[in-house]
Amino acid sequence: MTVKPDPTELPLALPINLVLIGFMGSGKSSIGRILATKLGFHLVDTDALIVQEAGMPITDIFAWQGEEGFREFEAKALAGLVDRSTHGLVIATGGGIVTREENLPLLHRLGFVVELTASEEVIFERVSRNKARPLLHTPNPRETVSKLLAHRAPMYAAAADFSIDSTVKTHTQVADELIEEARRRYPCD
Ligand code: S3P
Repeated sequence: MTVKPDPTELPLALPINLVLIGFMGSGKSSIGRILATKLGFHLVDTDALIVQEAGMPITDIFAWQGEEGFREFEAKALAGLVDRSTHGLVIATGGGIVTREENLPLLHRLGFVVELTASEEVIFERVSRNKARPLLHTPNPRETVSKLLAHRAPMYAAAADFSIDSTVKTHTQVADELIEEARRRYPCD
């Protein structure tokens, strides 16, 4: 007779959560999905938690309460994840999460903080495919991306334990490299 292992008894493929930070269009959601599948982790998206909590899309939150109101929701969503102290998560964060200083220690409490980067051209090409980002609803979104990126790039770099660039790599390659790095730093016993 073969006994099926109890999945809750199986060792985690990685003994720590992965926390993805980076600019809009850096690949957090897509790479997060691949990582979650490969590791057997759950993917949690802070934007999705915010939409659920607010009961409206992100564009409506911005229209209703402005960016500050959105940041309040975001900080609460992050703190809520820390309180749950769950393991086995890939956490994809919103691109502005690093702009609030109080969020930074929480990101580190959640797990291994990885910055995803890509060239400005690639980022602009990716964000142009999706119009649901209110910060880019400006007369010149290309210039907005450029300015925001220049302002935030040092914040991501300072907040991250590790950075990986996806400009000339497939999302799967990025995910594989990231898992390799995480396993090297956090070996399973
Ligand atoms: C934002 C990024 C968005 C979302 C919101 C604000 C930002 O998330 O949180 O529109 O300030 O960069 P993504 O990075 O997933 O696009």
